[in-house]
Amino acid sequence: MTAKIIDGKAIAERIRAQIAQEVQQRVEAGLTRPGLATVLVGDNPASQIYVRMKHKACEQVGINSFGYELPADASQEEVEALVERLNADPAIHGILVQLPLPAGLDEEKVLGRIRLEKDVDGFHPLNIGRLAQKGREPLFVPCTPAGIMVLLEEAGVTLEGARAVVLGRSNIVGMPVSLLLLRRNATVTVCHSRTRDLPAVTREADVLIAAVGRAEMVRRDWVKPGAVVIDVGVNRVEDPTAKKGYRLVGDVAFDEVKDVASAITPVPGGVGPMTIAMLLKNTLRAAKLAD
Ligand code: GUN
Repeated sequence: MTAKIIDGKAIAERIRAQIAQEVQQRVEAGLTRPGLATVLVGDNPASQIYVRMKHKACEQVGINSFGYELPADASQEEVEALVERLNADPAIHGILVQLPLPAGLDEEKVLGRIRLEKDVDGFHPLNIGRLAQKGREPLFVPCTPAGIMVLLEEAGVTLEGARAVVLGRSNIVGMPVSLLLLRRNATVTVCHSRTRDLPAVTREADVLIAAVGRAEMVRRDWVKPGAVVIDVGVNRVEDPTAKKGYRLVGDVAFDEVKDVASAITPVPGGVGPMTIAMLLKNTLRAAKLAD
């Protein structure tokens, strides 16, 4: 079997085009142009790249973006005061605090300061709490997990009653995507560093989500024939033949697993572009909530 490649880049481009059109229509109708504020604390190089990509994506769809940077030694009070300022600014509909925050800052307190209506990352404790409970609806759902759900939908995957296995339990991906899969009536297993006989567990999966940040950890014999595999990992591996001296690989050994899976996301070009598309979508929604 050769897996169908789930083209996240193309799906994300389509979503971005729809957002651009809606933004234009809003502005023509005299409504506010959506605005996103990013808060970057410290000088983590990966975070700097991600934030830059988010601003560029905003610009492409006509969303205003405002970048705020604080030094790595900024105090808890300074970070929270900035969030409060952005909460009060009517030109800003969404607030994104790039994670991880430097050590010493209380992430939960910072995220809890964001006005619920502006929590486009969906990391406010109330939004996450609602996501975890039956009959409750979060205002916003975290972007990478939301993007994964769109990819599964686009690939025509039936989640009802399916066995889903999530590798990784991070606050940003593993935990919230597990909750989303559960809400869709999948039977969900969450694996982590202490899980015994990991390959035996992943082989049970109809839908396997890999979000651990370990290069090519998921091998061919970890995957049930016909499974759908979503690879969230973005890992640098040395490659002297590459121009930059490295290349990006996922958490899944793509070349092996594509021969057993029925569908698989590539890295790059799978989940990554969806994260940003969902952020734009959430920001547009936040602007609509403020109308
Ligand atoms: N760090 C890694 N992924 C994310 C994300 O989706 N949002 C934020 N704020 N920080 C991140």
